[in-house]
Amino acid sequence: MAASSSTMGKVIRCKAAVAYEPNKPMMFEDINVAPPQMSEVRIKMVNAAVCQSDLYFWKGKDVAKLFPRILGHEGAGIVESVGSNVKGIKAGDKCIPVWQAECKKCSKCKSSRTNICDTFVFNWGSGLMPSDKKTTRFTRVSDGKPIYHFFGISVFSQYTVVDEACVAKINPNADLSKICLLGCGIPTGVGSAWKIAKVHPKSTVAVFGLGTIGLAVVEACKVSGCSRIIGIARDEEKLARAMEFGLTDTLNTKAFNKPIEQVICEMTEGGMGVDYSFDCTGDPGIIYSALECCTPAGGVSIILGLVESSQVVKFHPGVLLWGRSWTSGLFGGYKGRTELPELVERCMKGHINLDHYITHHMPFSKINEAFDLLNQGGCIRCVMDYDK
Ligand SMILES: NC(=O)c1ccc[n+]([C@@H]2O[C@H](COP(=O)([O-])OP(=O)(O)OC[C@H]3O[C@@H](n4cnc5c(N)ncnc54)[C@H](O)[C@@H]3O)[C@@H](O)[C@H]2O)c1
Ligand SMILES: [Zn+2]
Ligand SMILES: [Zn+2]
Repeated sequence: MAASSSTMGKVIRCKAAVAYEPNKPMMFEDINVAPPQMSEVRIKMVNAAVCQSDLYFWKGKDVAKLFPRILGHEGAGIVESVGSNVKGIKAGDKCIPVWQAECKKCSKCKSSRTNICDTFVFNWGSGLMPSDKKTTRFTRVSDGKPIYHFFGISVFSQYTVVDEACVAKINPNADLSKICLLGCGIPTGVGSAWKIAKVHPKSTVAVFGLGTIGLAVVEACKVSGCSRIIGIARDEEKLARAMEFGLTDTLNTKAFNKPIEQVICEMTEGGMGVDYSFDCTGDPGIIYSALECCTPAGGVSIILGLVESSQVVKFHPGVLLWGRSWTSGLFGGYKGRTELPELVERCMKGHINLDHYITHHMPFSKINEAFDLLNQGGCIRCVMDYDK
């Protein structure tokens, strides 16, 4: 595997983790990666981590259930080559592949109201390249059959090809072994607090689920000066660990024989609930508890977790009648290309402490172990090194 101008315009053979069926270990095998076409960028991946959303699709909890597929959407790398017509990024640039695409041209990209790009909504379900909506850039070495992409970026391959709308050029001095976390978890968490909820000093908040997303919400709320940050989890170890991220109160759901939302309301002044609540679990029961624990008088509850496609949350509209809001968002509301580089700068200055999210390191070849670790709740983030 070599990354140099010698590979430009040529097919690259490299290793990738290919998921063939739900819940089965991925095959770490040779694949061919085609050169980037017009408006595309080929990236040599350097580091990546597994996010709970990878497990969601690997387990086939989504509607499409596309296989064989190369998963992965939280990573960082170096541009190997670019296709024709690509401006603003070139071979050798450090970058983060961004699943929340930004074409910069459509009316949504030009609006500050949303980070969803009209042109690239397609990225989500198809597993195909956005440029022609027909082909993939990955094929099996053994028989030349295509392998589906994931979220438009598929970072669990030593090389990947993405549309230029899906790549953020970042500071050349960034340490990719840490900055790779900005591919998903950290922006999702901090952006949900800062950009979606817009928490403010003295806000009271409740955060359900203390994995990377929940912990990043906690840290962002601490940076914003929130007065009370209540963390809710099912085990003491996670609660203890979350204290260093900024929790002021911990609640173990197993310790109470009444609904957790009631416990939270009773902890707040006036007994009405917190100003903001965040679901970072994807559990429908927790999503409803999070809604009920924020004050009916203008409280805001933000759903971040992915819920299995067959499950629903039932509610009576009366719970919103006093002006409570129930909302959600992808990637913390960040626009991938224009806003992520700025967040990278903030992290490099230490505004967010990336080190305390990284509990494990592993060579990329051991990716199935990294999946097991997150699946069993054994890590916050496990960073994989692609050169090992
Ligand atoms: N909205 C987005 O843009 C976005 C982006 C990334 C991840 N996600 C989703 O956010 C969620 C969290 O992702 P993560 O990577 O932090 O996962 P994670 O596995 O690291 O953390 C989830 C935590 O929730 C806890 N949890 C689960 N069910 C619970 C329950 N019933 N009660 C208490 N705690 C419970 C788990 O123990 C775990 O600690 C996932 O559903 C993921 O798919 C959404
Ligand atoms: Zn757009
Ligand atoms: Zn993710």
